Amino acid sequence: MNKTGRLAVLGSINADHILNLTSFPRPGETVIGKQYQIAFGGKGANQAVAAGRSGADIAFIACVGDDDIGQRIRQQLAEDHIDIAPVEVIAGESTGVALIFVNDEGENSIAIHAGANAALSPALVEKQRKIVENADALLMQLESPLESVLAAAKIARQHQTKVILNPAPAMPLPDELLALVDMITPNETEAEILTGVAVASDEDAARAASVLHDKGIHSVLITLGSRGVWLSEAGKGERISGFKVQAVDTIAAGDTFNGALMTALLEGKPLPQAVRFAHAAAAIAVTRSGAQPSVPWREETDRFLQQQE
Ligand code: RIB
Repeated sequence: MNKTGRLAVLGSINADHILNLTSFPRPGETVIGKQYQIAFGGKGANQAVAAGRSGADIAFIACVGDDDIGQRIRQQLAEDHIDIAPVEVIAGESTGVALIFVNDEGENSIAIHAGANAALSPALVEKQRKIVENADALLMQLESPLESVLAAAKIARQHQTKVILNPAPAMPLPDELLALVDMITPNETEAEILTGVAVASDEDAARAASVLHDKGIHSVLITLGSRGVWLSEAGKGERISGFKVQAVDTIAAGDTFNGALMTALLEGKPLPQAVRFAHAAAAIAVTRSGAQPSVPWREETDRFLQQQE
């Protein structure tokens, strides 16, 4: 087992209702689905699971409802090697829900009901302050209330805990938050919303990264789908290609990338090597369906990487 720094993840938990169909319904249209499953998801939980299964020392700050599925998700998170003491059960609330369509091309379309995720207030973040203070890195996304993401980032900055933000789902963000972020991992759409630069080429990615550096962020990783990742540190950029696989669906591919990336970084791997490890974990995830059911364990990612050499 590799020695690893401590990770805190703050984020959402959802029950994903996934319907596979030939093509997405248009407004007013009803389409017949081909396959339906309920799987555990939520961007925060998926990233925590990717970190836990790949060997991170991780605690997860999140909320579930006081319903049956919330209880089952908590139990599964513990089995995925995650410290779930900071996962609060919110009385009278339902666990978050994501309704997901997946078409024959493996593309998805997602709508969310926040449920208990909306209860992850700044007061709850304050209650879990020690987890953030004692972590080496804090990984967050944007399915939790923005004021709570900001509150956690402030605590992290005061205690030299690195702040990593996966700015998904896409939304504009205040400079106050971006100035507290050490590393950011947007996809092309999110990068465009944050910077105003449409990312269609490596040159565009370099320009978008430069806008984010100017906001105070040291490391910028723009994920480019099948083209890999644009990695820019303090203004110096390079593209790191991903692995070609037969995709089943891309649900949680980005989440798997983020969780695995953190594991590798906290083991002390240099950033380009950590990106390669994260690419491998994400490549495995897209060959399987659903969010958490698709996230690989460490042995699988190591084996995949060995097979590439
Ligand atoms: O990133 C994928 C996730 O987005 C799904 O698991 C769904 O819950 C939504 O949060």
